[in-house]
Amino acid sequence: MASFNTIAGCVLASALFAMVVGKVSNAVVHPHKLDKPALAVSNDAPTQTAAAPAAIEIPPIGPKLASANVDAGKAIFMKQCFTCHTVDKGGANKVGPNLWDVVDRKKASHAGFSYSSALTAKGGEWTYEDIDHLIFKPSAYARGTKMAFAGLPKEQERADVIAYLRTMADTPKPLP
Ligand code: HEC
Repeated sequence: MASFNTIAGCVLASALFAMVVGKVSNAVVHPHKLDKPALAVSNDAPTQTAAAPAAIEIPPIGPKLASANVDAGKAIFMKQCFTCHTVDKGGANKVGPNLWDVVDRKKASHAGFSYSSALTAKGGEWTYEDIDHLIFKPSAYARGTKMAFAGLPKEQERADVIAYLRTMADTPKPLP
């Protein structure tokens, strides 16, 4: 049989519980005003260092292109790139987009190819230097890129391949 004490205890406990809940919800519903805004919003353009993960420093490829070997570049392309890319005019997209006339082409713009947002977000055109950075280490150039290629660490090989890509156009772009 429930004693009077038990019942009284229950009533008291419920009352306490109600008080606690009241206090807590009060705290939740009426938060303290912050002295300062928690998020500082700035209108300044983001600086390079803040926006991008530290870019890998490689010397400019431009000066090496004039003396690069187009035939060697073609051989490297056939071995390293052709599994994923065609480079002839009107060539099909494979795992990667067709690369005809890629120098100065708008990045991530080839018709019928579904690019990653990582590459689309880059913006601008494919300069010689940007192609160099991409093929040096795609994952570092565009984190999250679909170009699953380790990269060409050798500068001479990159210069040769870029010199070859340059020739694959109706009117090759001027050398830098
Ligand atoms: C394993 C497949 C693969 C290999 C190998 C590969 N690529 Fe790619 N490449 C891709 C894919 C996929 C993309 C699209 C990337 C994205 O959307 O993030 C791409 C994009 C590119 C682009 C940008 C094209 C555009 O339209 O914006 C260039 C330039 C390029 N690759 C050059 C090369 C070169 C040069 C080589 C050889 C040294 C090479 N790729 C090797 C798969 C590959």
